[in-house]
Amino acid sequence: MAQGHIIPFMELAKLIHHRRRCTITVVSTPANIRALISSFPSTPTFRLVPLPFDPTHHSLPASSESCDTLSTPLFVRLLHASLSLRPAFSFLLSDFLSSPSAPSRLCVIADVPTSWACEVAESLGAHHAVFSTCGAYGTTSYFSLWQHLPHARTDADEFPVPSFPDSFRLNRSQLPSYLRAADGADVWSAFFQPAIATSLRSKSMLCNSVEEVETSGFRLLRNYTGLRVYAVGPLLPFLDEKKSYKRAGKAHGLSVDACLEWLDAHPPASVLYVSFGSQNTISARQTMELAKGIEASGKAFIWVIRPPVEFDIGGEFKNEWLPEGFEERMRESARGVLVRDWAPQLEILSHASTGAFLSHCGWNSALESLSRGVPMIGWPLASEQFYNSVMLEEELGVCVELARGKEVVVPGKEVERVVRVVMGEERGAELRRRAVVLRELLEDSMKEGDGEGKGSSLKAIDEFLEIALSGKSQMNGGSLNS
Ligand code: UDX
Repeated sequence: MAQGHIIPFMELAKLIHHRRRCTITVVSTPANIRALISSFPSTPTFRLVPLPFDPTHHSLPASSESCDTLSTPLFVRLLHASLSLRPAFSFLLSDFLSSPSAPSRLCVIADVPTSWACEVAESLGAHHAVFSTCGAYGTTSYFSLWQHLPHARTDADEFPVPSFPDSFRLNRSQLPSYLRAADGADVWSAFFQPAIATSLRSKSMLCNSVEEVETSGFRLLRNYTGLRVYAVGPLLPFLDEKKSYKRAGKAHGLSVDACLEWLDAHPPASVLYVSFGSQNTISARQTMELAKGIEASGKAFIWVIRPPVEFDIGGEFKNEWLPEGFEERMRESARGVLVRDWAPQLEILSHASTGAFLSHCGWNSALESLSRGVPMIGWPLASEQFYNSVMLEEELGVCVELARGKEVVVPGKEVERVVRVVMGEERGAELRRRAVVLRELLEDSMKEGDGEGKGSSLKAIDEFLEIALSGKSQMNGGSLNS
């Protein structure tokens, strides 16, 4: 029930459908299914099925079925409300299994927050797996932090994270505010701790990342979970598909054609793309400083704007949150475009004029940037984005972290400095070189071929499907987890 999860789930569904031609049923709430149907019309072998859900029965605004329209306190209410889907899902699965056209093999793939779906599958004798839309390193950090709450056992700013090497330390500033405040008795822990524990009881885990990109991350994830883990990413359309990608998502604030035309008018690698993902924004003060810094950097930009955190995230963006005359100045000089609410991100990142991505380091955004060879400026805001940012900067060498969290105030001067560094000729050139190396690793992982010629992620998904759909024993599977 979040764009950052629905998008990779639909890519996973497309990939499985493409490789096995099995029947896919995508299950979500009515508004989410309605939003998907225009991009993915139901067919007899690719079905979209809504489960009854009324947000107002959970004290949520009507039609709030995805985190992107909700403030943080309502977001956790939606998570708890999602537990109410279980009886309807159980009924759907029983009905499916007892129908005359019941499949000979059924496999349920559940998101981590809805991992109770694996329990339902288990009770009905179906195969099941949990799918983490995050990376290996991000998933392990997030699981370990929620399960052990290590920061709550110390007053120190820095603390070790259970299951990570002793030398690894996180700082309190790398915790989202709700995790920093968590003590095990709060509403967030009451949701995440059981959801993670149930995920760890699933038969296996699919992870939207690449074995060769997160080698140590996958080692940590397998040690932590004890599960058979399949690295099946990056789950996204590749460049050869088309110029405009058919994806899950919302209506664009500026059309694909208009964005591409604007980018066409700029030199290669000269445009900064700025977006904080599907469900986060920064403060009003910070929006102002970011605008000043970007303007002072002299770089061209496309910036996806949403109301600051203090305001209704689903509301209208007001010009008073920007320096006076900013939007007109940028438009008249063709220096910058502000896109309201939602941009065609993958098309923008795929364009040769895009030279850097200022991002909250959500895992989909990170994979999309790397898959197009675009270096990043990190500003993690929530969830596991803080640990993605560390990995992208320290382990992969493709990112420079500018700021972290929603409460910080980074002066415009610092924004200007970091933008110039990342888009410049010294450090910038090295970041771009690393991003190209990673793009090649991502492409290789999805390469078709036989034996050794087949990419690692395709091998992993084929191996998973063989076990899940052919009824082969887990022990007879391949060797990824050995
Ligand atoms: C959150 C987590 O932080 C992320 O790491 C987790 O795996 C999923 O949920 P979110 O804020 O949704 O992420 O960001 P991200 O993971 O980057 O996903 C956003 C998706 O929306 C991307 O696929 C991106 O291309 C798309 N998007 C976002 C658009 O297409 N246009 C936009 O304007 C904004």
